[in-house]
Amino acid sequence: MKICGVSGSLRKASYNTALLKAVAEIAAPDIEIEIADISDIPLYNGDVEAEGIPASVEAFAADILGADALLIVTPEYNAGIPGVLKNALDWASRVRPNVFDGKPTAMMGTSPGKLGTVRAQMQLRNQMANLNAQVVSQPMIYVGEAGKFFDEGKTGLDDATKGFIEKQLVALKALVD
Ligand SMILES: Cc1cc2nc3c(=O)[nH]c(=O)nc-3n(C[C@H](O)[C@H](O)[C@H](O)COP(=O)(O)O)c2cc1C
Repeated sequence: MKICGVSGSLRKASYNTALLKAVAEIAAPDIEIEIADISDIPLYNGDVEAEGIPASVEAFAADILGADALLIVTPEYNAGIPGVLKNALDWASRVRPNVFDGKPTAMMGTSPGKLGTVRAQMQLRNQMANLNAQVVSQPMIYVGEAGKFFDEGKTGLDDATKGFIEKQLVALKALVD
């Protein structure tokens, strides 16, 4: 199974990118996770679109289309998903045919607070359903208190969280199959 991994944070020391990389390590050997680069995607503008889909958007859409599944790891900003992620998804949704159509999709996220991106993921789940992606229902993965796993000197995820991630990847594989 080839997974296109997307982190909703552009920050070098992002907890969410660290989580995505941790998933790539936990994943079974027959699961390949390639991290898409959304850092060059411009702000959506219908006038820009009228001149043609930007190359960075075409590349992102091709990454999604070429993968069996999509894994979005999102931060939470003001109880929703970051603009950077929303913008990338909005742009990709303009590529035809719809690269999200029927795409097996999993999501997770991490934040320093205790809720671990619950509210952002509720919003993202709704958006992905609207794009007709097939979103994994369970397990949902909200990694709270990110610093205790990913701050310098910390050893990474605990076994319980790793177990949820393994289960989510199995659920994602079942959708792909
Ligand atoms: C504009 C902004 C709004 C934020 N709002 C929330 C929030 O609603 N809930 C939350 O748990 N964390 C919130 N945070 C804190 C982020 O969870 C934190 O910055 C986190 O490290 C971002 O993810 P990253 O480490 O992957 O970049 C917010 C941060 C920013 C910059």
